[in-house]
Amino acid sequence: TAVKANPLIELHREAVNFYHRVLLSTKAGERGMQYAEKRKLDQDTLEHFQIGYAPKQDNLLLTYLRGKKFDDDLLAKSGLFVQSKDGRLFDRFRDRLMFPLANENGQVIGFSGRRISDDKTEAKYMNSPETEIFTKSKVLFHFAEAKKAAREEGHLVLYEGYMDVISAYKAGVKSGIASMGTSLTDQQVYMLRRVTSEIIINYDGDDPGVHAEERAARMFEKAGGFKLGIVVLPEKLDPDEYVKKFGAEKYQKEIQGALSPIDFFLQRIAKKFNLNNDREKVTFLDEAVKEIARVSNPVEQDLYLEKLAREQNVSKDSLKANLLRERRRQN
Ligand code: GTP
Ligand code: MN
Ligand code: MN
Ligand code: MN
Ligand code: MN
Repeated sequence: TAVKANPLIELHREAVNFYHRVLLSTKAGERGMQYAEKRKLDQDTLEHFQIGYAPKQDNLLLTYLRGKKFDDDLLAKSGLFVQSKDGRLFDRFRDRLMFPLANENGQVIGFSGRRISDDKTEAKYMNSPETEIFTKSKVLFHFAEAKKAAREEGHLVLYEGYMDVISAYKAGVKSGIASMGTSLTDQQVYMLRRVTSEIIINYDGDDPGVHAEERAARMFEKAGGFKLGIVVLPEKLDPDEYVKKFGAEKYQKEIQGALSPIDFFLQRIAKKFNLNNDREKVTFLDEAVKEIARVSNPVEQDLYLEKLAREQNVSKDSLKANLLRERRRQN
């Protein structure tokens, strides 16, 4: 016997269609379309990601879904409406570009809406609240699609933002996913673990983005069994901005040139010191060796010691002595 579909998932399917049609073919959606064009979202992209627009006008979604015979109890549970004290329902999302958020099977379970107006007092992104079907900590944007692409590309690419996943997709990197913001969760790491062991982290090139990359890299290291690549984009750009500024080909080169975690951390450490000053250089080398001591593969460890010695013009033997002392301390 056929399993009856979850009514909340049916409801979301209708909501996706509604928002998408409003964007593509209504007068009420023209504002949304202007914004989509400003963000360089073409027809194919709007289709692939099923992007929509939540109109400014009151309660168009509410009217539409009631017309589809969804009852108010279910509407209230969907998260797509806010409820007044006297129990009346109102569309939660207004005048926002709508990104559907799907579960691992590609079923839409919530939305994130991008503010279109310049009103900075409103949140830039607004998400569905937690519901029976929507648990924020377990959602990865574009995961169901990216899993398929990962089989060809050999890895998944982790981004901060929806627009980054979307621009990367257009630039030919189709295995992109995003957690909601920079806060990757253990559940998400576990979800990724089951799909691939190769992860490329490509957060925004600004300070918060690079800090979040450090944190994410440590989480993957702790989980174990991942092969990581880390991309740090120049000029504090995010991937969406980078693709628009430098084009698809150059972006793909950035992905191919992802740093190993150890190179990434060594570069981060080096930035803190003035290496022309001997005392600072000694502190740098101490910290760098501590980092290298974390590497479990002895061949890899040796390779990085060699490289550090060469680059900093010190003897590998002295670094090695420090490393052994450090390893004894760590054990
Ligand atoms: P655009 O300005 O549309 O390009 O967004 P962005 O993805 O570049 O945003 P940003 O780098 O500031 O943030 C990255 C991600 O954090 C977003 O894609 C959202 O998932 C999340 N985020 C950003 N701002 C907000 C917010 O105001 N509220 C919530 N809940 N999430 C946000
Ligand atoms: Mn790869
Ligand atoms: Mn950011
Ligand atoms: Mn960004
Ligand atoms: Mn952006």
